[in-house]
Amino acid sequence: MSDKNYILAIESSCDDTGAAIIEGNKILSNVVASQKIHEIYGGVVPELASRAHQQNIVPVVDQALKQANIKKEDLKAIAYTRGPGLMGSLLVGGSFAKSFSQSLNIPLIEVNHMQAHILANFIDDANVDKPTFPFLCLTVSGGHTQIVKINNYFDMEILGETIDDAAGEAFDKAGKILNLPYPAGPIIDKKSKIGNPTKFTFAKPKIEGLNFSFSGFKTSVLYFIQKEEKNNPNFIEENIDDLCASIQRSIVNILMDKVQKAIQQTGINQIAIAGGVSANSEIRERLLEGEEKFGWKTYIPKFAYTTDNAAMIAMVGTLKYDHKIFTENTTKSVAKYHI
Ligand code: KG4
Ligand code: ZN
Repeated sequence: MSDKNYILAIESSCDDTGAAIIEGNKILSNVVASQKIHEIYGGVVPELASRAHQQNIVPVVDQALKQANIKKEDLKAIAYTRGPGLMGSLLVGGSFAKSFSQSLNIPLIEVNHMQAHILANFIDDANVDKPTFPFLCLTVSGGHTQIVKINNYFDMEILGETIDDAAGEAFDKAGKILNLPYPAGPIIDKKSKIGNPTKFTFAKPKIEGLNFSFSGFKTSVLYFIQKEEKNNPNFIEENIDDLCASIQRSIVNILMDKVQKAIQQTGINQIAIAGGVSANSEIRERLLEGEEKFGWKTYIPKFAYTTDNAAMIAMVGTLKYDHKIFTENTTKSVAKYHI
């Protein structure tokens, strides 16, 4: 038995099975098994995701322990994603965490996946500086788009969120219209680098306040492509880089408008970013530009901590462990989980 507070964290909310070991706020291992099976369907198939989690979970946890060079008997607690996410996927990680903690007779810690995306900024090697309270966070993933005000580790307020599609979905659905494979976000990002972002313009939603909407944008991409393809069946192929760059510019403009508004409204100029879409190079550039132009301070965690990963669950695990915030074996997984 070690006297160090090693915590195992498990993430299984969507299509990535993750396990990580943390000690304090230092990540000792962060293993992710991504599920390739969904690519051919153009999106995550929930039933296939939970089956793949079942296959992956034991080897992934085993790998995390090995890479951290510790034994299961050294663990002090187990943290797992309680929600939000796909119920079948959550149940696999949740059941595993519960039975493992019971067999080792150590505490169980439930974690909100969206809080974890935000608190990933506090992992030791996530970024050079750490945000101070209060700060704002733009959380942008395949399932969520939120601007959150973080007053303290466990005191967060959603200032605005999407009323329909998430930003990642906007990338992925626009990509599907362009016949790009799933997930299209990273491909659009790559092609945008050589395309002209002002060649095409798409509908900009008129949503009051700090909420977002992407469904009108997606429809406008669809109608535009359908119209152009009537005149030229090769329209997509001939314009793919410019289409990607223009689509990316539109989505990033929608996000940045609201970030700017949130900073103006709250007077808080520290802005962190979280979620898979925060890997996008144009979002990163625009945030950094804001530092120079408007005096913002931005926090952009390293890539491995922005997409779905267990290290962020582990970070919350450590914080809850220190505050002795444990949960029962009877705690139910929840598909919707407000932060
Ligand atoms: O956080 P994440 O890994 O999983 C969810 O919780 O959803 O986010 C996945 C999303 C996908 O929609 C993917 O297309 C998008 O993040 N994404 C990107 C980039 N990398 C991943 N979107 C735009 N640009 C990128 N470079
Ligand atoms: Zn996520």
